[in-house]
Amino acid sequence: MKIIRDVHEMQRTALALREKAIPVGVAPTMGYFHDGHLSLMRRAKHENDICVVTLFVNPTQFGKNEDLSKYPRNEARDSAMAESVGADILFMPPPEAMYPAGYQTFVDVEEVSLPMCGESRPGHFRGVATVVTKLFMLTQPRRAYFGLKDYQQCQVIRRMTGDLNIPVDLVFCPIVREPDGLAMSSRNVYLTKEERRAATVLSRALENARRFVEQGQRHAEKIRDFVKMQILAEPLAVIDYVEAVDAQSLQPIGQIAHPMLVAVAVRFGKTRLIDNIVIEI
Ligand code: PAF
Repeated sequence: MKIIRDVHEMQRTALALREKAIPVGVAPTMGYFHDGHLSLMRRAKHENDICVVTLFVNPTQFGKNEDLSKYPRNEARDSAMAESVGADILFMPPPEAMYPAGYQTFVDVEEVSLPMCGESRPGHFRGVATVVTKLFMLTQPRRAYFGLKDYQQCQVIRRMTGDLNIPVDLVFCPIVREPDGLAMSSRNVYLTKEERRAATVLSRALENARRFVEQGQRHAEKIRDFVKMQILAEPLAVIDYVEAVDAQSLQPIGQIAHPMLVAVAVRFGKTRLIDNIVIEI
């Protein structure tokens, strides 16, 4: 596996691969890998000749009071893990190369960025859309792999690639969970033992929502309240949002007619976790 830090070298390498029609699959990440990341890399490797993993803790997607400086990092461990699943290139640019002095160009995806995480983290999706566009330009992928735990992020990127005619096939991969149901996240390492136990309420509440629909419930608001009630019953959980919305537009719905997304963002101590489920009817 080759490690590239220089943005120009990355782009030269990617353009040379494109010239030879060698398909590249990219897995964009912020590092501190877990099995969820590895599942993206394995799939990128399986479906393309070359798997590029990008590892960049993107400052523009963190708010002022968020965890940018504390975000967990371990380059040596991450390199070994990426190599173990067959990544060909690990791209780790320094922040000053991605955003040099005078940088002033941003990508803003409008409606789909507004609700849920867009409301609690203003500017977050502008940072995500901007860096993903840059990473696409630098790695020239045929396909790009993202995890569905960040469901709204996937919708923002889908809209962006469509609206800007970016020739990349998006592959959204299922959430990978711990044996007790907790969605894997680099931020899980922040949780204390008690918070880690409490956090299992999220996947349980979402699974119960699926059962509620299977039993015939069709009112989005009732489903949302049902999930909220279960999370409120956990004393360590502080709700940021619980939403039951149309899975495509992320707009509120009354009766479910299409696939519905139930998405939650909940704080346990200082750690904000997200999780979701798409319920087909
Ligand atoms: O999902 C993430 O890790 C990040 O938001 C991404 C897509 C790598 C952009 O920084």
